[in-house]
Amino acid sequence: MAHESILAYARYRYLKLATAAVVVAIAAYVWDRPPNGRYGGTWLGYTLGTVAALLIGWLLWFGVRKRRYASNAGMVQGWLSAHCYLGTTLIIIVTLHAAFKVGWNVHTLAYVLMLVVIFSGFYGVYAYLRFPRVMTDNLGDDTLQMLLIRIADLDRQSRQLALSLPDSINRLVLASAQGTRIGGPWWQQLRGRDPHCPTTLASNGVQIIGRKLAGEQAKSNHQLYALLLKKQELVARARRDVQLKSWLDVWLYIHVPLSIALMVTLTIHIVSVFFYW
Ligand code: HEM
Ligand code: HEM
Repeated sequence: MAHESILAYARYRYLKLATAAVVVAIAAYVWDRPPNGRYGGTWLGYTLGTVAALLIGWLLWFGVRKRRYASNAGMVQGWLSAHCYLGTTLIIIVTLHAAFKVGWNVHTLAYVLMLVVIFSGFYGVYAYLRFPRVMTDNLGDDTLQMLLIRIADLDRQSRQLALSLPDSINRLVLASAQGTRIGGPWWQQLRGRDPHCPTTLASNGVQIIGRKLAGEQAKSNHQLYALLLKKQELVARARRDVQLKSWLDVWLYIHVPLSIALMVTLTIHIVSVFFYW
C-alpha cells in the first residue's frame, strides 16, 4: 500500500471535511449560551457527545471494514484517510462536549483513553510514512531471509577456517554461530542491538588472540577476522530490519486495545449520565 497518499487522499477530502466539522462545532459552542452554563448535559452538549460517540463507533468499525476490503487497496486508503482526519476532530468535539470540564471520574477516563488512542494514531501515521523507506534503505536489494542465509553461510566458512586455529578461537566462533540472536523478546527487537553479542565478542577476541599467531595460522586468522566483520555487518542490518518492523507495529498494541477500553469506558459514561438524569 502506498502510505504516502493517506494524508493527501482525494485532494485532502477528509481534511476539508474534518476542518468543516470542527468549525461548525466551535461556532455552535460559541453561539450557544445555555442558562445554567455550558456542560455535557445541554442540548448542544448532548449533540456533540452523540456525534463523538457515533464517530468512535465508526472508527472502531474500521478494523472490521479494513479486513473485508483487504483486496481493494484504494478503498482501504480512503477509509484510513477518513479515519485519521475524522478521528482527530474528536479532540475538539469531545473537549467542547465536556465544556473543558475534567475531574477524577469515569468521564475523564474515557477522555484520556481517547486522547491516547488518537496520539498513538499520530505516531502510527508517522511510522507508516517514514519507516518503509528506511527499511528499504537498510536492506538494499536483500531481504531479511537472504541476510539470514548469508549469515549462516559465513558461520559455516568461519567454523571451517577456525579448525586450524587455537581452541580459544574455535570456542569464540562456535559461540558466535550458536549464540547470536537476531530477534528475541519484544524489548530486544525494539532495541535493535545486543550489547553482549557473541559475534562482536568473537571478532574482538579473534583480533586480540591473532596478534600472537604467525605464518599460516596468522593468515587464516586474518581471513577469519574478515568473515566475522562481514557477519557483524549483516547481523546489524538484520537486527535493524527487525527493529524497524517492531517500531512499525508497536503502536497498534496501544491503539487497538485502548480503543476497546475506550468503548467500554464510554458505555459506562453514557449509561451513568442517564442514571443521574
Ligand atoms: C452519546 C454520547 C454522550 C452522551 C449522552 C454524554 C453525556 C454527557 C453528559 C450528560 C455530561 C455532563 C455530566 C455532568 O456534568 O454531570 C457529560 C460530560 C462529559 N462527557 Fe460525555 N456524553 C457522551 C459522549 C462522550 C464522549 C464520546 C466522551 C469522550 C470520549 C465524553 C466525555 C465527557 C467528559 C470528559 C465529560 C465531563 C465530565 C466532568 O464534568 O467531569 N462524553 N457527557
Ligand atoms: C478515538 C479514535 C480512534 C479509534 C477508536 C481508532 C480505532 C482504530 C481501530 C480499531 C483500528 C483497526 C486496527 C486493526 O485492526 O488493525 C485502527 C487502525 C488505524 N488507526 Fe485508528 N482509531 C482512532 C483514531 C485514529 C487517529 C486520530 C489516527 C491517526 C491520526 C489513527 C490511525 C490509524 C491507522 C493508521 C490505522 C491503520 C492500522 C493498520 O492498517 O495497520 N487512528 N484504529
